[in-house]
Amino acid sequence: MSRALTHDDSTVVLGIETSCDETAAALVMGGSDVLSSVVASQIELHADFGGVVPEIASRAHLEALNPVVARAVVEAGIDESRIDAVACTIGPGLIGALLVGVSASKSLALAWDVPFVGVNHLEAHCYSAFLEDPTLEFPLVVLLVSGGHTMLIEMCGHGRYRLLGQTIDDAAGEAFDKVARFLGLGYPGGPAIDKEALRGDPEAIRFPRAMLDDGLDFSFSGLKTAVVNHVRQNPDVTSADVAASFQAAVVDVLVVKARRAAEQVGATGLVLGGGVAANSLLREELLGACAADGRRGFLPSREMCTDNAAMIAAVGWHRLGSDGPSPLDTGAYPNLRLELIPD
Ligand code: KG4
Ligand code: ZN
Repeated sequence: MSRALTHDDSTVVLGIETSCDETAAALVMGGSDVLSSVVASQIELHADFGGVVPEIASRAHLEALNPVVARAVVEAGIDESRIDAVACTIGPGLIGALLVGVSASKSLALAWDVPFVGVNHLEAHCYSAFLEDPTLEFPLVVLLVSGGHTMLIEMCGHGRYRLLGQTIDDAAGEAFDKVARFLGLGYPGGPAIDKEALRGDPEAIRFPRAMLDDGLDFSFSGLKTAVVNHVRQNPDVTSADVAASFQAAVVDVLVVKARRAAEQVGATGLVLGGGVAANSLLREELLGACAADGRRGFLPSREMCTDNAAMIAAVGWHRLGSDGPSPLDTGAYPNLRLELIPD
């Protein structure tokens, strides 16, 4: 017989995240009270290859997951028996990496006799903001910018999404990573460009702002090509100026479109999610734009923007309340999409 399902402010959810190159576990109470959040990064294992190697990622998750979960429980200062549910990313992400988390989560749920909840990683990025400010009001516009996605999402209520715009080619994080690799700044590219840009002039080179005046979709592949062409034609240019000018071009487009989206849907606020949301210039410009528009801008802390399991546990808590547990035959879905409400 399964333990009775509880869902209230004292419900403790263990979140597990293994979709890419971070092994993470967190305990969150009532959907927003983060008791612990542990992230073991694999960056060093992949750095030599200039990107995430799927097989290495899966093996590293296998090794790291049990200790990471154990640490999350210890740091939360509660007994395992207080855990009411296990939530885990089921997609999108690398299939082998996802399977490690999903299998472990279902096993733990079974062993502890508590519900298992499958979580969409994209939805979780939308919830980083709620972890730090549960009083945010709908409709909200979320600018979700990660290594694999660039999306403008209207959040009409908990678990209710409309897609307003998205990239038609590269994701913003992918552009950061590719340009950083080209400039020899290392991996992951986003933080490296962020740092290098501090020493450069953002107006040194006027890189293209694709589709700036045109709707809410994005395109970043031309910008990457423009960077490569400029550096080849101007071999003396400093990587600091290229990094600063490239970053300014990406951030310009992201902020103009996020602002347009918020205006279009009459959003009460604009929030960031995803790894690129850790970018210093983006954070500064987005807050400036919100202040100018008289709209609430909320920036989750950098730790909550990049991949973590607290955001997974937060969605797990909400989904447990709205949909109940997921069946134990739930799989891992590398191309999982955000479930949208019909227009
Ligand atoms: O959300 P995330 O941790 O993983 C995915 O779900 O993709 O995002 C990773 C992406 C990488 O492309 C990384 O370069 C980028 O976020 N990123 C940044 C910064 N920190 C991480 N991009 C720009 N500036 C940063 N400070
Ligand atoms: Zn992510």
